[in-house]
Amino acid sequence: MDRPELTTHFGYRDVPLGEKQTLVNEVFHSVASRYDLMNDLMSAGLHRVWKDIMINTLNPPRNDAPFALLDVAGGTGDISFRAARAAGHGFHATVCDINPDMLAVGRERAARNHLDDRVDFVEGNAEALSFPDRAFDAYTIAFGIRNVPRIDLALREAYRVLKPGGRFLCLEFSTVDVPGLDRIYDLFSFKVIPPLGRMITGDADSYRYLVESIRKFPKPGAFAEMIGDAGFSRATWQSLSGGIVALHSGWRL
Ligand SMILES: C[S@@+](CC[C@H](N)C(=O)[O-])C[C@H]1O[C@@H](n2cnc3c(N)ncnc32)[C@H](O)[C@@H]1O
Repeated sequence: MDRPELTTHFGYRDVPLGEKQTLVNEVFHSVASRYDLMNDLMSAGLHRVWKDIMINTLNPPRNDAPFALLDVAGGTGDISFRAARAAGHGFHATVCDINPDMLAVGRERAARNHLDDRVDFVEGNAEALSFPDRAFDAYTIAFGIRNVPRIDLALREAYRVLKPGGRFLCLEFSTVDVPGLDRIYDLFSFKVIPPLGRMITGDADSYRYLVESIRKFPKPGAFAEMIGDAGFSRATWQSLSGGIVALHSGWRL
C-alpha cells in the first residue's frame, strides 16, 4: 500500500514537505538585494523597534566576557549587527542561513560597517546545524522559523547547540489581538504588501507567500508549547504591537 505523502503549508498552499524549502529558497533568492529596504517599507520601520527589544532581552555582556551568539535564519545579519553594537569585546556572532544570496548581502554589510571581525556568515539549515553540542551562549531566530519546514527539528537543534544556561529567543509574526487593528492589518497585508513587493523587488508572489505564511504560523501559546517540547524551560512570550509580533523565550537549563 502507498504511504500518504507528508504535506505542509507554503503560504495557503498545501505542498509536499520536501518541496517547501525549495520554494522558500526561491522567495529569498528573489528578494535578497531589496530585502532590507522592503523590511523598512513594510513595517514602517517598526522591525527596528522589535529587533531592538530582542537585543535588550538578550542583553549580551557589555564587558570583555566571552559570549557566542548563533543567529539562525540570520539573513542579511540585522540581529547580529545590532547585538554586536550593544555588546562588549568578548562578543562574537555566527549568522547561519540556508540562502547564499541573503548571506552575500550580509557579508557586504558587515564589511561596510567594520563588523566583519565580530560577525561570521555560515551557510546551513536550521533543521540540521553543523555546529557541535553546547557551543553557544544564545540562539536567536528572527522572522525565520515560520519558513522552516520542520519547526520541531529546528527547535531541537537550537536546544542541542546551546550551552546549559543558554537562552533561546525567537522573534516572529504572531496573531493580532486588538479589535479593529486586525482588520486594518489584514487589509494592509493583502492589499498593500504584495503590490509594494512588486514595485520594489518585481515580485508580488514572494510577498504574498510571506503574509500568508504569517497566518499559518501556530498561535503563540501553541508555539510556546513546541518550545517546551524541544526541552526548553520557562518558555514564555511577550506580545508586541498588539500581537503583530511575539518575542518567544526559553532556557536550556
Ligand atoms: C524573513 S528572513 C529573516 C532574516 C533576518 N533574521 C531578519 O530578521 O532580518 C528569513 C530567513 O530565513 C532563512 N531560512 C529559511 N529557511 C531556512 C532554514 N531551513 N535554515 C536556515 N535559514 C532558513 C531565509 O533564507 C531568510 O534569510
